Amino acid sequence: MPLATSGEYLAKTFQGLEDTLAEELEQLGATNIKVRKRAVLFEADRETFYKANYLSRVALRFLRPVLNFRASSYEELYRKMYDVNWPDFLHYDQTFAISSVVNSRIFDHSRYTTLKTKDAIVDHFRERFRKRPFIETYQPDIRFHVHINDRNIRLYLDASGESLHKRGYRKDDTFPAPLSECLAAGMLLKAGWDGSKDFVDPMCGSGTLLIEAGMIARNIAAQRYRAYFSFHNWSDFQPKLWKKVKEDAIQNERLFEHVIKGFDYDQKALNAATTNLRGAGLRGYTELTLLDIVDMKPQKAPGFLMVNPPYGDNIKVDDIDLLYKQLGDMLKQKFNQWDAWVFTANLDALKNIGLKTSKRIPLFNGPKESRLCLYEMY
Ligand SMILES: C[S@@+](CC[C@H](N)C(=O)[O-])C[C@H]1O[C@@H](n2cnc3c(N)ncnc32)[C@H](O)[C@@H]1O
Repeated sequence: MPLATSGEYLAKTFQGLEDTLAEELEQLGATNIKVRKRAVLFEADRETFYKANYLSRVALRFLRPVLNFRASSYEELYRKMYDVNWPDFLHYDQTFAISSVVNSRIFDHSRYTTLKTKDAIVDHFRERFRKRPFIETYQPDIRFHVHINDRNIRLYLDASGESLHKRGYRKDDTFPAPLSECLAAGMLLKAGWDGSKDFVDPMCGSGTLLIEAGMIARNIAAQRYRAYFSFHNWSDFQPKLWKKVKEDAIQNERLFEHVIKGFDYDQKALNAATTNLRGAGLRGYTELTLLDIVDMKPQKAPGFLMVNPPYGDNIKVDDIDLLYKQLGDMLKQKFNQWDAWVFTANLDALKNIGLKTSKRIPLFNGPKESRLCLYEMY
């Protein structure tokens, strides 16, 4: 595969976390960083690219641009795709998948775009080798993305395969409405969480914030427990360099001197949190307690609290306004001298919290406009 040792990449993330992703990439040594909507373009040598895949907490996916051309019909798309030297990217013994995103009057069906591209690839291999690679939708060896804007066609190689929010530690995924791991980590980084205090999530659900907070505090690589990365199947993959990146990251892990506390009034949520914390090797740093927020005891300062209360749509709540009022009362009465961050997509319910907001950070939870708000309980 003619992939140079240094190259251009595209990292995708949540809307609102682009700057956080750009900062992560800069710290890892990426250059020529350009922030786009829900994405960051950057250049990196191979080691920096491997580090970004292993360490970035907020990237959802890394893509490598391989081709850019114009076409005005599906027929032209097929012909130009057929002419690509596919063995540069894919061997006929490997499985592959294609995802297409189209924003074009001509190419108005993403499925048909995918089908035409697949036909071009398969016909190319049949013609040259009398053998063809097969489609595999679950964990294919090689995944391509086709992005079409009007007549502009871009082809990318997907380095990640499955989205990078699948970190490998979520052993119990039965809990409804967990936060995305990337979004949780992004909120913690934006809020300046560094592991120098106790951490509390009083409505912890399946434990995503507890785990991401613990991983940041202990400097555990975001992908420490993930095995599958699509770029491991690229023909220029260097296993020794990947091993070194992983070993260096493990060397950089540190101890955490404080406690991570999770509360929830639902035993099923706590069971999921227990399993997931164990999956992340963090159970020893955490205390989980079955508790309604109205029964919270005063907590010793200083400390850092982050909570993702129900929005009222995903998890059933009898009186959502009352719940947010109770949350505000709990913060005021039981978390004196703490920094408290509340993340929600229910901006109406948030008004019932009754506390002065020190910071209000706009974020998107997928399509849902959300806020991450800081309340300084001093
Ligand atoms: C949106 S979920 C949190 C999801 C969590 N961030 C995760 O990633 O899994 C909200 C949680 O608040 C809990 N909850 C709702 N009302 C509560 C109350 N009064 N006291 C304690 N927990 C409550 C629910 O059981 C649920 O687990």
